[in-house]
Amino acid sequence: MEIVKASLKDVALINKLAGQVWESTYRDILSAAQLEYMFSMMYSPKSITEQLEIKGHQYLLIKDETYYCGFASYEINYKPGVTKIHKLYVLPQTQGKGVGSLLLGAIEREARNNGNSIITLNVNRFNVAFHFYNKKGFIKTGTEDIDIGSGYLMEDYIMEKEIR
Ligand SMILES: CC(C)(COP(=O)(O)OP(=O)(O)OC[C@H]1O[C@@H](n2cnc3c(N)ncnc32)[C@H](O)[C@@H]1OP(=O)(O)O)[C@@H](O)C(=O)NCCC(=O)NCCS
Repeated sequence: MEIVKASLKDVALINKLAGQVWESTYRDILSAAQLEYMFSMMYSPKSITEQLEIKGHQYLLIKDETYYCGFASYEINYKPGVTKIHKLYVLPQTQGKGVGSLLLGAIEREARNNGNSIITLNVNRFNVAFHFYNKKGFIKTGTEDIDIGSGYLMEDYIMEKEIR
């Protein structure tokens, strides 16, 4: 497995990978309309480009010898000393094989190397990924409903992990 930092040339690839995992992750949690609304809000080429160019998000891509199987995005110094994970997705056929842990480990290293000591993230309250984060040392620190427009809410837990 190899983890590489993504750049603007990878926007189409990120959009494609997200499209391969988005529906199976959220189809039992969100309505089809909200699923589509959020996908274009967060994963359109324009949105990914803005995240990279303006918002200071960094993307990682992970691949084995033949294909890309996941990606993550994070923001160093989201708040003083805090790195935020914005996205962490492994393709369905590759889940449960340690790939998410590798991406998380890479983000933790980046955070530490940049002097951050806390990692924070939001996860949908009905997403089983909560248990993954729990296993990896994150604890639930809050609950948040985020109004994303058009009558939709993101119903999240906030989770945090202290890193040394
Ligand atoms: C959540 C996700 C990133 C985890 O990555 P992964 O490669 O599947 O997880 P790993 O194989 O590294 O698992 C690490 C540990 O977490 C546990 N775990 C992973 N997914 C789990 C789940 N859904 N429920 C319970 N435990 C889980 C594994 O059993 C493993 O435990 P172990 O260390 O005792 O063996 C991945 O499953 C995924 O992309 N899911 C869909 C997208 C998603 O929900 N992303 C998060 C958005 S906030």
